[in-house]
Amino acid sequence: MAGVPVKCGTIVSFCFVLYAVYYRKNDLGDVRLSPVKDHLLYLENENKVGEGKLQPKVALGYGACHDLFVNATSLLDHKELKGNPEHFNEISNKEEFLKSFAYFFKHGAAAERFVSNGKLYDELIEQALKLPDSRWSIGGNAPLMAKRFYIEGWKVLFAAKMSNKLKKYIPKDIQIVGGEENEEVRDDVHMILEYKTDETFGTLKAPRANRYIVHNDENNPLLSSLEKFDEHLPGFGPNLLVISGLQMMDNYPFKVGDGKDLRAERLDLVKKQILSQPLSTLTHFEMASYVDLELLKHLTTKILPFVDSVGMNEQELTNLYSVLEYGEVSVVADSNPE
Ligand SMILES: *[C@@H]1O[C@H](CO)[C@@H](O)[C@H](O)[C@H]1NC(C)=O
Repeated sequence: MAGVPVKCGTIVSFCFVLYAVYYRKNDLGDVRLSPVKDHLLYLENENKVGEGKLQPKVALGYGACHDLFVNATSLLDHKELKGNPEHFNEISNKEEFLKSFAYFFKHGAAAERFVSNGKLYDELIEQALKLPDSRWSIGGNAPLMAKRFYIEGWKVLFAAKMSNKLKKYIPKDIQIVGGEENEEVRDDVHMILEYKTDETFGTLKAPRANRYIVHNDENNPLLSSLEKFDEHLPGFGPNLLVISGLQMMDNYPFKVGDGKDLRAERLDLVKKQILSQPLSTLTHFEMASYVDLELLKHLTTKILPFVDSVGMNEQELTNLYSVLEYGEVSVVADSNPE
């Protein structure tokens, strides 16, 4: 990682969000996790945010969604899977959906895919809602982190275009910017297919618990709240700026034409937003699962060089390493990395 320039001499701290902590508590034990925790505490101590402030301020972008949690093996019928598990960048029909799910299930790897077929997507949601265990929640890294900072006593500004219904999940004291007053918003719904360790799908067995996520977004890939966020940042004056949600641009069918690359343009605006902050404001980038090499390369030139810290899980770290070192995407990493 020595190639990543740092802003203002701050140590780039890779805070590994070990999802494994939750899933593998029993077989890992505290012995291996406590050095990780100790080191995170050390890094936190070395990189104090808003020191001396009674109430530090955090601004988080971009986006939110309505998450629908579904039992994967109840929703999908393994008998419909014809042929071998296979990975697709984008899902356009049921067959690809099943093959793609089976591929990540077999590896116990997390994945997030765009379903380009809106009709298929609506049908899947309809089926999912018939299952007894399906449940709704608010989703997206920005709102979840916003709530956490709020619990820690911070003053929070958060950027997302969301419906009034979805806003009800957010504590009132958190300021939400993104949409126009009284604008009708259709929330982006993400379907989160969950499975446990050792669950089976036909002849396949999941080596660890994980989630396969699908979406059919309209707002999030375009970072539709970015401009409104820009208007509010100077007045708010955050001690910490958190950039997240860029993975929603992954494999999204952006229109490219007239020599225009909309995604690159949006990312240039993110870069501008980061650089518009005073040096005393630290910036954190929360990564996620990416498969689109071009987007990952954009991140390494437009985002990563300008942030103070990066958050990711172990599979995302493997992927970033692979991109920086070999210029390749690693679609699935070992489900039990060292
Ligand atoms: C899904 O449902 C099956 C059958 O009821 C159950 O065995 C499994 O534990 C459930 N999986 C999750 C992730 O809840």
